[in-house]
Amino acid sequence: MKVGFLGFGEVSRVLSRKLMAEGVEAYTCTEERSLKTRQNALDLGVKLCESLEEVAEISDITISAVVPGATVEVSKKVGNSVKGVYVDMNSVSPFTVKEALSFVENGKTVDASIMGSIKKGADVKIVASGSFAESFAELNQYGMNINIVGPDLGQASALKMLRSVYTKGVSALLFESLYTAYKMGIDDILLKYLSETECPGFKESAISRIMSSELNAKRRAQEMLEVVKVVSEYTDPVMSRATLEFFQMISKKQGKSNYEKIFHGFSDD
Ligand SMILES: NC(=O)c1ccc[n+]([C@@H]2O[C@H](COP(=O)([O-])OP(=O)(O)OC[C@H]3O[C@@H](n4cnc5c(N)ncnc54)[C@H](OP(=O)(O)O)[C@@H]3O)[C@@H](O)[C@H]2O)c1
Repeated sequence: MKVGFLGFGEVSRVLSRKLMAEGVEAYTCTEERSLKTRQNALDLGVKLCESLEEVAEISDITISAVVPGATVEVSKKVGNSVKGVYVDMNSVSPFTVKEALSFVENGKTVDASIMGSIKKGADVKIVASGSFAESFAELNQYGMNINIVGPDLGQASALKMLRSVYTKGVSALLFESLYTAYKMGIDDILLKYLSETECPGFKESAISRIMSSELNAKRRAQEMLEVVKVVSEYTDPVMSRATLEFFQMISKKQGKSNYEKIFHGFSDD
């Protein structure tokens, strides 16, 4: 089995490491990419192609894991070179996924979304939809955790977007209420009261959400832009828009803020 990666960042690194350990041949192309990307590929020993088109041509499964903004550009570039199945794994809206996949001439396409952080490992849950999702799910025998959610392109990415309305919205609410409490000197006690009404482990999960909100604010803001587009097709995206504004605000303050103080405060007892 040959699996090609378009983009070789965090996602490709984690997945290819596991797949190669299970005997899969992994390919990528790092021409014109950053030093970090080149180093990632070198460290892992994936096979290097001269172009993205070559990756798409020789792979049984080609996975696009670039950045949301490059989703369409990359599929356009390799669309008529794809021989096997093309999987889009970027965090973009169903509209963007469908546009990207429309450039894959052989029509063997899959919409896939990572439901969580790849830091959890190669067995992080991935949802997939489209008539070729089963071919992609063959990678489960090599340690991946692909769950087919439907026959139509757009279903997997819609699930991911709608999950974000909830998860990122809750993170923004937690951040705002606890940061205000911190400024007033009552953060510990607020956490205590919230923990009483929420589920066990709430405090740890609240701290983890707040820390990752600040660390990943830019990426989250980009994803919330896509979320707002999706929700606005069906209803007024009041909550999603507020979450988008929140992450845009945090990303602008990144590096200048003292938010880490909050985390110290939370970790004291
Ligand atoms: N990380 C996660 O936990 C996670 C979870 C869910 C979904 N996702 C999605 O999965 C995708 C990949 O995420 P990631 O965390 O692996 O991102 P990342 O670490 O930022 O890596 C992105 C990779 O894509 C490359 N790239 C960017 N533009 C490109 C282009 N036009 N052509 C070819 N390669 C290009 C980058 O190269 P350079 O280094 O040269 O820029 C880098 O190698 C994203 O769409 C993200 O939204 C990630």
